[in-house]
Amino acid sequence: LASLEVDLSNVDPGSTVTVKWRGKPVFIRRRTEEEIERARREDSASLRDPQPDSARVQDPEWLVVVGVCTHLGCIPLPNAGDYGGWFCPCHGSHYDVSGRARKGPAPLNLEVPAYTFLGERRLLIG
Ligand code: FES
Repeated sequence: LASLEVDLSNVDPGSTVTVKWRGKPVFIRRRTEEEIERARREDSASLRDPQPDSARVQDPEWLVVVGVCTHLGCIPLPNAGDYGGWFCPCHGSHYDVSGRARKGPAPLNLEVPAYTFLGERRLLIG
């Protein structure tokens, strides 16, 4: 399937759902106000793959990223790691609440796929 439609109506704030798109996991995280503020605050941290949070989201409440570690392709664990985002257990990469690589061997941020909001609670990935 080239595109995937996802119903977001049952996703609670602070939680992440994982869907499969083109054979890869995609993480959809409904961020809390605190997480959004944290992601913006950390725009000014020293980032190895510099990108402001605003360039990585369409709606700040929803972060959509491909769930493949940019080091060697393992699947990171949500709500884990030193930066409150993801932790990749394979070799210890940490990602923040914007999916940006912060610590460990991952060279790049988690990839943001193409997506569109079809309505307030419907997302089309791809
Ligand atoms: Fe994720 Fe190596 S594959 S840290």
